Amino acid sequence: DKDGHKHFMAKEIAEQPVAIDRALKAYMGDDGQLSLPAELDFTKIERLTMVACGTAFYACMVAKYWFEQIARMPVEVDVASEFRYREPPVSEKTLALFVSQSGETADTLAALRYMDGKAQQIVGLVNVPESSIARESDVILPLHAGPEISVASTKAFTCQLTILLLLALRAAEQRGLPLPDGMPNDLRAIPGLIHQSLAGEKQITASARGLAEARDIIFLGRGQLYPLALEGALKLKELSYIHAEGYASGELKHGPIALIDEKVPVVVMAPRDALFDKTVSNMQEVMARGGKVILITDAEGAKIAGDGTHEVIVMPQVPDSLAPILYAVPAQQIAYYTAIAKGTDVDQPRNLAKSVTVE
Ligand code: M6R
Repeated sequence: DKDGHKHFMAKEIAEQPVAIDRALKAYMGDDGQLSLPAELDFTKIERLTMVACGTAFYACMVAKYWFEQIARMPVEVDVASEFRYREPPVSEKTLALFVSQSGETADTLAALRYMDGKAQQIVGLVNVPESSIARESDVILPLHAGPEISVASTKAFTCQLTILLLLALRAAEQRGLPLPDGMPNDLRAIPGLIHQSLAGEKQITASARGLAEARDIIFLGRGQLYPLALEGALKLKELSYIHAEGYASGELKHGPIALIDEKVPVVVMAPRDALFDKTVSNMQEVMARGGKVILITDAEGAKIAGDGTHEVIVMPQVPDSLAPILYAVPAQQIAYYTAIAKGTDVDQPRNLAKSVTVE
């Protein structure tokens, strides 16, 4: 039941604070200590390989930044449909992590079977604990997102991110590295911050009417926000059928900038972090060519770079590593309200299935 919402997707977007809180409680004690399964051992591991599809793959892409920066671990991420047929050499000291909401995605399951017997440990991060991926993993980490009905993945994604960040912190601890300031306690703020950013809805509803008129939309992000740009574009495509592309903002001048004119809205995701100035200079290149920029940033970012943009969506200020979790919300809302403006079937977009059990 939709619990008073018009669509399952709206319900699932709204449920994120509760879902994330549940995930945090499952993996973190009241004392602020991480409570992950004891078998999960990053000390003897030389490499982490993460494999998934679609939105779950973007969660892995974000996690690569975390594991590299926080736990100083070599990380490989790949989409399952490519990974499984590449037959990559696997060192025994690999931890293989498979991320899937359904736990039934055919390509992800096949990639897991390829790694079975080669990697030291197979870990499944799944929302459905009775699923095939869960059954075939050595260690199961349930997402605790609750049932996700809408084809577009929302709360599963933010729960995946939250748990992946906890895993990166655990890896750092086990490898004797200091945790970033405030971690893991800062994670407790996520549900409240998501709740706060859900309030940006009104503004996004208005801008979605404009976006619904566009033929092409570009999403830009840098660093940890690059996968969010990809996620924003994927969500928009699947729900509104508008052609959208996500790019690493530094790649703009290597081709995509040729697309820019006054008809192409460009959504820029840029919290005021160490890479902010770089992203802003890419954004200015877009504006100099008449591109209509929708900047998603925090109050400080808006003050510095808001001039000349078409619109600014202001997000709460957060510690750097939490930004990808928070910026998932406007990405979801943009897709949702643009689909509403276009009148497409939000919960059951054409040609798509919730669980892709054939390759
Ligand atoms: O069940 P899974 O997480 O393995 O599904 C993976 C993708 O099929 C899924 O994330 C898909 O990209 C969503 N429709 C995105 O919203």
